[in-house]
Amino acid sequence: MSVLADFALPFLRCLDPEKAHNMTLAALKAGLGPKAFADEDGRLVTKVWDMYFPSPIGLSAGFDKNAEVADAMLDTGLGFVEVGSITPKAQDGNPKPRIFRLPKDGGVINRLGFNNKGMHVAAKNLAHRYSSGIVGVNLGKNKTTEDAASDYAVGAEKLSPFADYLVINVSSPNTPGLRALQDKDELANLVIATLEARDKAMGEKRKPPLLVKIAPDLNSDDLSDIASLTLDMNIDGLIVSNTTISRPDSLKDKKTAEETGGLSGKPLMELSTDVLADVYKRTGGKIPLIGVGGVASGQDAYRKIRAGASLVQLYSALVYHGPSLIPRIKRELSECLSKDGFENVGQAVGADHR
Ligand SMILES: Cc1cc2nc3c(=O)[nH]c(=O)nc-3n(C[C@H](O)[C@H](O)[C@H](O)COP(=O)(O)O)c2cc1C
Repeated sequence: MSVLADFALPFLRCLDPEKAHNMTLAALKAGLGPKAFADEDGRLVTKVWDMYFPSPIGLSAGFDKNAEVADAMLDTGLGFVEVGSITPKAQDGNPKPRIFRLPKDGGVINRLGFNNKGMHVAAKNLAHRYSSGIVGVNLGKNKTTEDAASDYAVGAEKLSPFADYLVINVSSPNTPGLRALQDKDELANLVIATLEARDKAMGEKRKPPLLVKIAPDLNSDDLSDIASLTLDMNIDGLIVSNTTISRPDSLKDKKTAEETGGLSGKPLMELSTDVLADVYKRTGGKIPLIGVGGVASGQDAYRKIRAGASLVQLYSALVYHGPSLIPRIKRELSECLSKDGFENVGQAVGADHR
């Protein structure tokens, strides 16, 4: 489990974060990624949307924007991987530098702006996968597109055949106007257009469930609107949450904290878990939720699950701890479940609300 983790990590941490990320992707593409032993832990297997996840711990969007290394990341022991955000056309994103580490806080700030090679390249990559592990496809819109719904529809039509689930991402802070699409009417339009495109593409075949990924910075009225829309429109799930534009007072890397962009990692844990618990209550536990934001240990993952997450994702903690974190999180999560007398993940989902 150690090529990237034990030898390369200290070196990668000395590099500019984006260069380090690109080297990691190159190593994964070259087959140098760590391989987890097939250590199925029955306690961690969980069924959501009629799919069996070998564990509830997945990779969140942004790491593999072009769907180049989904299988290599599944090989590290993750239960599922979300690729993207993918836009219809290729785009460069914002000027560099645009990723910043906050090492004292265990945080990351990014303002990438959906840099990606576009849906045709992603589709080609997904068509050449070698494993059958679960892969979600996260859809975004191009910066210059005015009719946002058409971009999500075009993306859904092209990529549904390769997706175990689809995500409408309306919560990244680095595309002007994107988060305004979380407004009730805008979101309803996007969902209708995306569902139509998905259904057209899939015909009689299995249709990937549709999820919406939300920001942690929504106010109570926004959350109430999204919860009722989710229930009314039969949206299959919500991902809570994307990065935050807020900056907690407790941040120690004060200078870097002034950079524009979305903050992720440890400083996001409290806020994103509070919003997750809130959304779970508002949706009455009826909608599967993916909890993401600040997870760096099995205990963190367990907190998300107790707060209402059926599945958990992480990204920033991997920047600091490397892939050896994944087996550790699974082991710790399994211990947390067994300590509290749960036989499986499903039994613990939303336990804090009972
Ligand atoms: C460098 C970077 C790029 C990201 N890009 C995306 C993206 O393209 N689409 C998306 O939905 N989320 C993106 N995210 C947000 C993550 O998927 C996740 O929601 C957020 O980072 C919180 O999780 P974490 O604290 O474990 O990193 C990105 C995060 C980082 C750090």
